[in-house]
Amino acid sequence: MTSFDNFEFSFLEEGFCARDIIDQKINESTYSDDKDAFYVADLGDVLKKHLRWARVLPRVTPFYAVKCNDSRAVVETLATLGAGFDCASKTEIQLVQSLGVEPSRIIYANPCKQVSQIKYASAHGVQMMTFDSEVELMKVARSHDNAKLVLRIATDDSKAVCRLSVKFGATLKGSRLLLERAKELGLDIIGVSFHVGSGCTDPETYAQAIADARCVFDMGAELGYNMTLLDIGGGFPGSDDSKLKFEEITAVINPALDKYFPVDSGVRIIAEPGRFYVASAYMLAVNIIAKKVNMKEQSGSDDEDDGTNDRTLMYYVNDGVYGSFNCILFDHAHVTPIVHKKPKPDERMYPCSIWGPTCDGLDRIVELCTLPDRQVGDWLLFENMGAYTVAASSTFNGFQKPDIYYVMSRSAWQCMQQIHAHGMPALVEEQSPGNMPGHCGRESTLELPAKSCAARVL
Ligand SMILES: Cc1ncc(COP(=O)(O)O)c(C=O)c1O
Repeated sequence: MTSFDNFEFSFLEEGFCARDIIDQKINESTYSDDKDAFYVADLGDVLKKHLRWARVLPRVTPFYAVKCNDSRAVVETLATLGAGFDCASKTEIQLVQSLGVEPSRIIYANPCKQVSQIKYASAHGVQMMTFDSEVELMKVARSHDNAKLVLRIATDDSKAVCRLSVKFGATLKGSRLLLERAKELGLDIIGVSFHVGSGCTDPETYAQAIADARCVFDMGAELGYNMTLLDIGGGFPGSDDSKLKFEEITAVINPALDKYFPVDSGVRIIAEPGRFYVASAYMLAVNIIAKKVNMKEQSGSDDEDDGTNDRTLMYYVNDGVYGSFNCILFDHAHVTPIVHKKPKPDERMYPCSIWGPTCDGLDRIVELCTLPDRQVGDWLLFENMGAYTVAASSTFNGFQKPDIYYVMSRSAWQCMQQIHAHGMPALVEEQSPGNMPGHCGRESTLELPAKSCAARVL
């Protein structure tokens, strides 16, 4: 059983959305000096992703990759919805288990683990774990009483934004040797996993990896293993402005699964989505704390010019690459600022750069963008900031991490409670409330209209 006792969230009133809460908080700060950066995170968006997943990948059970965003609110939302969890460490296992998630809903998906953490998993009933080397097999044989091992294979992730197979994954040839060694050690190998790289841009990588996994299942069968688990990893986009749409990927995955792992094969299929679940749920508001106006070198401009054409602006804001924008360094992210105070139709725009608050020259958020002239105290907003942001941010130079305000609509809350009580319905259709308990079918395509007035938060 899970509860929402450990974090606070506010209900969104009917017709209001997360952006309204941003506006409300900014309005509240107007006459105050307290203009710290903050997030608004819509847990209803996480629910929408869960419904979308069930609709388009019905054969695949999601095990959320906690590393992507380990906020208790996100993990608890997904625990309530019945998702499984991909944990990379003892601390992530502790977090998930502290919410009452049973060990069978956890995969310890780190192929290179510290021995003490393998022992922790063993003592706490976590059996499923990945490996990709002989040394790991020997460690597990010594340190875990009853491991159910999943062999991670390498993929061609050359077209992914963040490559993972440079570090993890056995080749097909290496897989045979590992299966043989595991047999000698008397270890139980229950399946195969892969990761196509985070920010995958080529769906065919999944199809190839699924075909390769089939080869490894067949090798396993030759050695007497009856493998029953396929784990197709992560790599799914977190927002609809990504180059490759989620549905374009699933249109390749589903037929590949049906070809290589048909329903009657009896193989259970799971995945480890991270970014998919959380990226679009988070919006970040940062405040302009300093500003410089630079004059470009004169280039013989005409007499009419009042000089503003030659200006470039440098904005300094109160979160940077050592904080939430670590995604620029670690996740190769490109972020786009939105001015909170809308520009007038004829307002002049300037070439601008945006910098974080620390004393490091590396702390640059945007090298060049076009923005209107804004003042110290004005706000910039960044959408899609939920993935690989808060999870890896630091307080370098003493700058504190932004507060996160969680919100959810009442219908999303009700839908979550119903899924928690009755499970996911067999069919999650896009526009068919009848197939979902309560409001859930409608929720799956729910787009709340943005209102300009302040939302009432309970
Ligand atoms: C083993 C593993 N699984 C899942 C993920 C999540 O990937 P994504 O956020 O691309 O879905 C990662 C990300 O690094 C990972 O290393």
